[in-house]
Amino acid sequence: MKKTVLVSGGAGFIGSHVTVELISAGYDVVIADNMSNCDMTGYEGVSKIIGRELPFIRMDFCDSQAVDKLFSDYRIDAVIHFAAFKAVGESVAEPLKYYKNNLMSFLNLLDAAHSHGGCNVLFSSSATVYGEPDQSPVTEQTPRQPSTSPYGNTKQMCEDFLRDCVKAYPDIKGIALRYFNPIGAHPSALIGELPRGVPNNLVPFITQTAIGKRECLSIFGNDYPTPDGTCLRDYIDIVDLAKAHVCAVSRMIDGKMKENYEIFNIGTGRPLSVYELVTAFEKVNGLKLNYKYADRRPGDVVAIWADPTLANEELGWKAERSIEETLASAWAWEKHLAETGK
Ligand code: UFG
Repeated sequence: MKKTVLVSGGAGFIGSHVTVELISAGYDVVIADNMSNCDMTGYEGVSKIIGRELPFIRMDFCDSQAVDKLFSDYRIDAVIHFAAFKAVGESVAEPLKYYKNNLMSFLNLLDAAHSHGGCNVLFSSSATVYGEPDQSPVTEQTPRQPSTSPYGNTKQMCEDFLRDCVKAYPDIKGIALRYFNPIGAHPSALIGELPRGVPNNLVPFITQTAIGKRECLSIFGNDYPTPDGTCLRDYIDIVDLAKAHVCAVSRMIDGKMKENYEIFNIGTGRPLSVYELVTAFEKVNGLKLNYKYADRRPGDVVAIWADPTLANEELGWKAERSIEETLASAWAWEKHLAETGK
């Protein structure tokens, strides 16, 4: 019998790509999303790619009754929790909004999972939990640093909620995936990143500049202690990232976990500077980008990249797409948006 995975925030950027990979791996998926940070583009794109419509529940995970009902209505074998706010700067300005939403939604989910007989829970965490590491690459053993933003705090706290629930309730198993910088789009160009307003993240800003929606990309800081003076990150392709979720879900459902709570870094292990990423984008897509150097962005980490060995060995997962393929897919997606008037 097919296993069912609940994907909270399944209409968003990462959730939509994960849904596609889950379906292609033979899972059933139930999508739940309150659409607070996306429209139906992601859901419609998924439907086109997989050739059918999936159950879609428009609901807020802060509504405990709605979460409870979800677990009554469906036999859920695993849940992947994406539904959260994610803008670092906004979280500094509006901490309560972030704490209420990101913490309550996950607590409601854990509560419902436990009261309905338990569940496998995959939490979408972030490299942000490492703060500014003393050195890179970081392993899962690298100590977490005190967070510089409420957003980062919510990631750390939700990891702790999961760890503590797993310890106390044998019917809950958990995996936290710590993503580095997810970029790119599905090769079909039917799903991708669709930020509302001015993009915070680098790649959507690049593609929007290339298409003419933005005048000029600002590269935040070129006087960092790095080879070319710009920050170093580990950019992970969104489809590769999505596949890591399938590996993690299978590991939980198939009873292959070594501990009942596990953490994996999901990155390539290769650092790339902002400047290198910009020039790679120009080269692979055969265009010139209008960019300038600007002041450092407050709160930016100088350099961080993953040691993905644990995920490679334990999940049997490895980043496969080249940065060129990924940046070409990001550009194809931006052009698809322009063609469809978005
Ligand atoms: N950058 C620019 N110009 C831009 C946007 C970004 O130069 O217009 C630079 C940033 O300064 C940084 C790099 O591009 O050096 C990557 O920035 P992103 O905003 O794309 O990604 P971050 O590494 O800042 O953010 C990521 C995740 C967050 C997470 C954060 C923690 O997207 O969810 O890591 O460090 F919180």
